[in-house]
Amino acid sequence: MIRIAAVGDVHVDKDVVGRYRPALEELPDRADALLVAGDLTRHGTPDEARCFAKEFGALAVPVVVVLGNHDHQSDQQDQVTEVLTDAGITVLESSATVLEIRGHRLGIAGTKGFGGGFAGACASNFGEREMKDFVGTSERYAQALEAALNSVECDALVALTHYAPVPETLVGEPLEIYAFLGCYQLGRAIDAAPTALALHGHAHHGSERGRTPGGVPVRNVAHPVIKQAYNVYQLLSDEVDATLVTANKTGF
Ligand SMILES: [Fe+2]
Repeated sequence: MIRIAAVGDVHVDKDVVGRYRPALEELPDRADALLVAGDLTRHGTPDEARCFAKEFGALAVPVVVVLGNHDHQSDQQDQVTEVLTDAGITVLESSATVLEIRGHRLGIAGTKGFGGGFAGACASNFGEREMKDFVGTSERYAQALEAALNSVECDALVALTHYAPVPETLVGEPLEIYAFLGCYQLGRAIDAAPTALALHGHAHHGSERGRTPGGVPVRNVAHPVIKQAYNVYQLLSDEVDATLVTANKTGF
């Protein structure tokens, strides 16, 4: 069994430092790895990245993250990535990593992703150059995720994105903004690989549970959705689905 702790949209700045840490200190007793689904910071500055690294770094388990749209706000995402990497945090963007956990290989492929919408209500690759650029961006991230997912050999494969791959985990958000919260191409990429679990954030008012058209369990782990420092899901157990096995109520 592999136990994965996950959270997203923690939006750390100097005022948040210290709020997650007590729960994170207990995490190694509860999980084998921590995945963070983007929006690590408020405005994507290197200073805020240092705050995130102080809060979420130097744990006794590996920490793997993707960036979110907030982490791009200051156009310093490369510096943010450097700060995190220097702190021992693995930052995925159209890439994958494999963690050895008690004899099992956990593969994690990640990308920020992008919006674009879902079946019946999505942007189409037609018309103005700006619209084609928008949809092209969605497709580029999804193709990169699919390639990253299929690049790893492992016993359990997890997809980590910031934007949502399905609309089910957006329920609670206004329908009018679904197209800015995720896109169907991410779900199609997840279904094109032997993915066991897909984790995302971004939709603060969404729902935790969904499933891709191909049947892969999807979990929206945005902090305002899970309302605790992290959820823990287990893989390679007798359960068919990833299952919430631990609720850490010591968060805020
Ligand atoms: Fe976001």
